Amino acid sequence: MTKILMVCLGNICRSPLAEGILKSKLSNDFYVDSAGTANYHTGNSPDKRSITVARKYGLDISHLKGRQFKTSDFDAFDLIYVMDGSNFKDVVSLARNDQDISKVKFILNEIYPNQNYDVPDPYYGGDDGFENVYKMLDEACDVIAKSLS
Ligand code: 4NP
Repeated sequence: MTKILMVCLGNICRSPLAEGILKSKLSNDFYVDSAGTANYHTGNSPDKRSITVARKYGLDISHLKGRQFKTSDFDAFDLIYVMDGSNFKDVVSLARNDQDISKVKFILNEIYPNQNYDVPDPYYGGDDGFENVYKMLDEACDVIAKSLS
């Protein structure tokens, strides 16, 4: 079974959306989870604005709970998609070897290869930021799902 982990900072805005979107595009032969590099929101539900935009597109992510990324995630997952350069640096700082590092990918490189673009953090912005993030993640997850299936 291929296992994919989505990572952002808080695990309440971007990565729970990415988890829900990718899950919806893959069969049960895949396992998808998400985590945050920070521990601010451990045990918390996704941000209401992420829940709302997901619901608008037919996905329920309200049951998800935040957790922090940990070194053993390098063993538990085959692919680790980060949302931005800061997440990349934080995740790679926990890697033990080159094999761990090779699992870490910028999610937007699926649409814009090798550009290392950030999925903007919508936390401090308005609702349109969440809509924008949803669309970016939906496009990236389409490419991921097609490449894995
Ligand atoms: P996320 O957004 O990394 O997309 O979940 C954030 C959520 C919370 C905070 C920062 C970013 N925070 O500072 O609490």
